[in-house]
Amino acid sequence: MSSFPKVFVAGATGLLGGQIVQALLDQGTPVRALVRPGTSQEKKVSLTARQAHGLELVEGDLTDPAERLADAVGDATTVISAVQGGPDVIIDGQVNLVHAAEKAGAHRFVPSDFAVDVTKLDDGDNFMIDWRRQATAAYFGTRLEVVSVLNGAFYEVMTGFMGLIDWEQGTLSHWGDPDQPLDLTSVADTAAYTAAVALDPAATGTMRFAGEVISMRQFHDAVQRGSGRTLRLHHLGTADDLRAEINRQAAATQNPFDYVALQYQWCMVSGKAKFDTLDNTRYPHITPLPLTDFVRGTAPTR
Ligand SMILES: NC(=O)c1ccc[n+]([C@@H]2O[C@H](COP(=O)([O-])OP(=O)(O)OC[C@H]3O[C@@H](n4cnc5c(N)ncnc54)[C@H](OP(=O)(O)O)[C@@H]3O)[C@@H](O)[C@H]2O)c1
Repeated sequence: MSSFPKVFVAGATGLLGGQIVQALLDQGTPVRALVRPGTSQEKKVSLTARQAHGLELVEGDLTDPAERLADAVGDATTVISAVQGGPDVIIDGQVNLVHAAEKAGAHRFVPSDFAVDVTKLDDGDNFMIDWRRQATAAYFGTRLEVVSVLNGAFYEVMTGFMGLIDWEQGTLSHWGDPDQPLDLTSVADTAAYTAAVALDPAATGTMRFAGEVISMRQFHDAVQRGSGRTLRLHHLGTADDLRAEINRQAAATQNPFDYVALQYQWCMVSGKAKFDTLDNTRYPHITPLPLTDFVRGTAPTR
């Protein structure tokens, strides 16, 4: 019998959510994981492999009626959301989840924030972060204690999705001041910190964690050391030039996802969404992975 209260995780089949489930189970915490109807057998099998260690799978969707979603939350006392999606999921779905968690009698809610310092941004800086702030405003006044976990940018995203590194051309491209500090964390360490927050009854408000706080110049060094490759550091322009490029792309496309990576980069390289403080020392049992080691394990071999 576990001494930890049960935790409900929405987004358990996702990149971050799956690792949050694992981090909770590793601590001996019982988990109820939401899987959407129609989830592939492959995804279910990778989750159910952990069932012996205290995982229950429950079917549902954040857009389900709150009564049904409350049944899915069941006897969990903390609800973690690690969903990704449009405003229907991030705003309406998460507000629905908060109402369901209240009905079910849960005490705490960790929203799907997991980003740069969302509290320092303004509307229009990043449309995906706008949705998260709109969700926060919509469930303001909930009787649940809301604890937000922020991690800067994932190592995985900085070395992949952002499109900074071109291994073929041997370049690492960046915008802004190469000495501007940036907050970066691996997915696994973000999951470990989220589990620690969920199991810490005194954790409150907005918690900020970073595996590394490094400039783009130091990021370049770490990527070179980890990969054993020489990459030419290519400066694309200032943070103001980047803002102008985002505005140019926004005027040219109907699809904001075309330039969302640039919006995240602007939030970082402008320094606007930089963490002022970190909460890493609250959980000294977590030793975040250095970026060099991450790159050593993931960079493509020649
Ligand atoms: N800081 C960073 O660099 C960074 C980078 C990436 C992501 N993030 C953040 O991390 C969080 C998780 O992102 P991720 O990349 O792990 O997402 P992901 O891999 O795309 O997974 C999204 C999860 O949400 C679930 N989901 C979507 N719509 C749902 C709905 N209506 N009802 C229930 N579940 C639903 C998906 O279920 P299905 O499997 O059924 O589709 C999946 O489990 C987000 O807040 C995201 O912004 C941060």
